[in-house]
Amino acid sequence: MSVRRLDPVQPDSFKFTPANLKWSKQTIKKYPPGKQASAVIPILWRAQEQNDGWTSEAAIRYVADLLDMSYIRVYEVATFYTMFQLSPVGKRAHIQVCGTTPCMLRGAEDLIKVCKRKIAEHPHELSASGDLSWEEVECLGACTNAPMVQVYKDVYEDLTPQDLEHIIDGLAAGKTPKTGPYNGRQFSAPLGELTSLNGAPPYNGGATATPTDKVVSKKAAPTAGKPAEVGDEAGEGKPAAVKKPAQPDDLKLISGVGPKLEGVLNGLGIYKFDQIAKWSKVECDWVDGYLNFKGRIERDDWVNQAAVLAKGGDAEYIRVFGKKPR
Ligand code: FES
Repeated sequence: MSVRRLDPVQPDSFKFTPANLKWSKQTIKKYPPGKQASAVIPILWRAQEQNDGWTSEAAIRYVADLLDMSYIRVYEVATFYTMFQLSPVGKRAHIQVCGTTPCMLRGAEDLIKVCKRKIAEHPHELSASGDLSWEEVECLGACTNAPMVQVYKDVYEDLTPQDLEHIIDGLAAGKTPKTGPYNGRQFSAPLGELTSLNGAPPYNGGATATPTDKVVSKKAAPTAGKPAEVGDEAGEGKPAAVKKPAQPDDLKLISGVGPKLEGVLNGLGIYKFDQIAKWSKVECDWVDGYLNFKGRIERDDWVNQAAVLAKGGDAEYIRVFGKKPR
């Protein structure tokens, strides 16, 4: 954790807009008389939002007066939590990259390189346009979806460097990129096929399923869920999609593709073997990055498997690979 100090260049004053003042007074009323200091974080956050994303000394004094707190108490809050920025930040976005162990092991350093290249060399340094800035922070509580970044209240998870590049481009263009996981994961659910709790339910004495059994099976069931939509952030290499045909191929015949991944591929508009058979390296890389597979498509030889299945189905697969498709 770096030392956190107030910016040497400070505005003379700070004052809530009438709307924010009204909101603050309503927020203070949520707490018992004499406990108005409990509202310090939401009110300081509102002040930061009004002040172009950073908290000035004048704002700290203003909030302290509003809450009848000593200045040092509000200063302590502002300097303790990294959600409060003590210097001006990018007007469009300030990107906080988690650099704690799980995110670091999953590629946070590469995300930081992207920030250095696309925004500015140093943390808290404004981009040339003044629209963007970045910093490294400690764990942001989304370790399951490492590596991840946060922009104000939004989180972007399971990122590759390419994903972050598209997110930064979107933010710089004034768009609001899709939040959440970028690899097709649903929230923080397991990615890919189940590796545990996937067998028959334990013997329960012959009784019908208990409510608990049902909950476990529901949670454990593989969901061919709708993948993350990348929309404008898709980037070069996204494979051509088709509408769902009357007779989609069973993509699970490709070794390495299970029900969950088939659902993700279908969500990308991939339904036929001959679509995958045409993928070039750039398309394989895009899907690899999207699924956070790190080369698995190439290792499992999806393209060749798909080409063989498209040509002659099971029989051709057995002829070429000497075994049945899975
Ligand atoms: S380590 Fe990055 S979110 Fe927890």
